[in-house]
Amino acid sequence: MRRNWWIPFRNPFRGNPFRGGLFRRMVASYALVTVLSFLLLGTLVSRMIERYYIRSTTQDLLASGSQAATAFQSFLEDRIDASSLQQKLSLEEHSSGILFLVIPVGADLPAKLELWAHPSGNEFTSSELQAIGSGHQVAKFGQIPGHAGETISVAVPILTGGQAVGAVSIHAPFLALRQTIQAVIRIIWISAALALALAVVLTYWNSWRIAGPLIRLAGLAREVARGNFGVRLPETSADEVGRLAASFNHMAAELERQEAMRGDFLASVAHELRSPLTSIRGFSRAILDGTAGPEQQAHYLEIIRSEADRLARLTGDLLDLAQFDAGQMHLARAAMDLNELARRVMASLTPQVEAARLDLELATDIFPIMVLADRDRVEQILANLLNNAVRYSPPGGRIDIRIRRDDRVARVDVSDKGVGIPPEDLFRIWERFYRVDKSRSRALGGTGLGLALVKELVEAHGGTVGVESALGKGTTFWFTLPLV
Ligand SMILES: Nc1ncnc2c1ncn2[C@@H]1O[C@H](COP(=O)(O)OP(=O)(O)OP(=O)(O)O)[C@@H](O)[C@H]1O
Ligand SMILES: [Mg+2]
Repeated sequence: MRRNWWIPFRNPFRGNPFRGGLFRRMVASYALVTVLSFLLLGTLVSRMIERYYIRSTTQDLLASGSQAATAFQSFLEDRIDASSLQQKLSLEEHSSGILFLVIPVGADLPAKLELWAHPSGNEFTSSELQAIGSGHQVAKFGQIPGHAGETISVAVPILTGGQAVGAVSIHAPFLALRQTIQAVIRIIWISAALALALAVVLTYWNSWRIAGPLIRLAGLAREVARGNFGVRLPETSADEVGRLAASFNHMAAELERQEAMRGDFLASVAHELRSPLTSIRGFSRAILDGTAGPEQQAHYLEIIRSEADRLARLTGDLLDLAQFDAGQMHLARAAMDLNELARRVMASLTPQVEAARLDLELATDIFPIMVLADRDRVEQILANLLNNAVRYSPPGGRIDIRIRRDDRVARVDVSDKGVGIPPEDLFRIWERFYRVDKSRSRALGGTGLGLALVKELVEAHGGTVGVESALGKGTTFWFTLPLV
């Protein structure tokens, strides 16, 4: 197997996230969000500035207008003369850059105010003039004739004896404010561009971190598909990407392990097939070329037959296991009596039991013990366990089968007084081809598949299997099956 440990480290910048759709989608969404937020921000901020500016300018203008109106009032009531009035007005005009003009409301202007009269009438509507005439201050914002651009206009009535005899009108152009707002919007757009650039950089970095490993993962997945299970991703982060890398590595390790197991399994199969085939070839050749005498010929044929039997059993077991592996083992379950089945299996074993001078006993209820199971398969389970017990018992020994109801299951125990199994082998005997004593088992015709198949079969029925053994004293195998 090729092991390319170096693959993940070939080039850390391999897997350009700019190429994939992920990066483009992420940049597009970040850009959209950035532009939209700044657009919203710009609109809101310029509106707010505009409103604030209009309100505060209007208040300032009204305050100046009120002062001027009071000055005009004092002048009209002869408390100050024209020069000190002009002085007051000039002072204010100079500091705030506005011009105080007097407009008539209703009647003509008093002659004393002619000097400050608006040269071209006024910019207020008749209803506004009416409001001013009844002593109210008026302020408005917008385009007015004779002025370029938007203007804030206020008018403050000049009162004498509680009567409005005219009004101070002030106009402040909005141009400066427009320029301020434009400057603010420019700043906002520059920030937006900077934020966008930052978003692109961050997105690139982020998507490199996400898409980079994904692209590498895709490459390694192709390696795995080609059968190179040695590849691994570096597990550098603890986030989702890191967890994905860990899962991938776990999968690759598992595949590698299974591949190794499959290799071992195939080697074992080939090995098990070879020794019976070798004997069959050898003995048949001896018969054919006449080296074996008539006596020996019968003996050799007997060996050939038993080796052929063994091959048949081996291939049968392998086929069954393959069916389990492919998930295609179908059980023809039906209600059946365990006691009756046990007696039949015992009867079929009589020749071997008698040959080994064994004592085979069955202890059970007199009533049938009905289980829901595939008859042939249960027979296979029991025959395997009994065969083992016979095989691994010394001549003259005793084998006990015990069948009983146990809660919701039927339990079958097969005990022998044979060689026993060492504790360190106990948990491995269920593995395929595992034999405690290889040469002894093979000499006895075993391949080490029996218990593996027993376990699969019992578990397919929803039962459990187990073993207890004491070395040199004996072994008990047990299994359960669901009662009807
Ligand atoms: N009753 C037993 N007493 C002692 N050892 C046993 C007993 N049953 C099984 N074993 C040990 O467990 C091993 C695995 O048993 P298993 O039935 O799977 O294989 P096998 O009997 O060697 O061959 P097969 O059953 O495929 O013909 C045996 O090789 C043997 O070492
Ligand atoms: Mg066996």
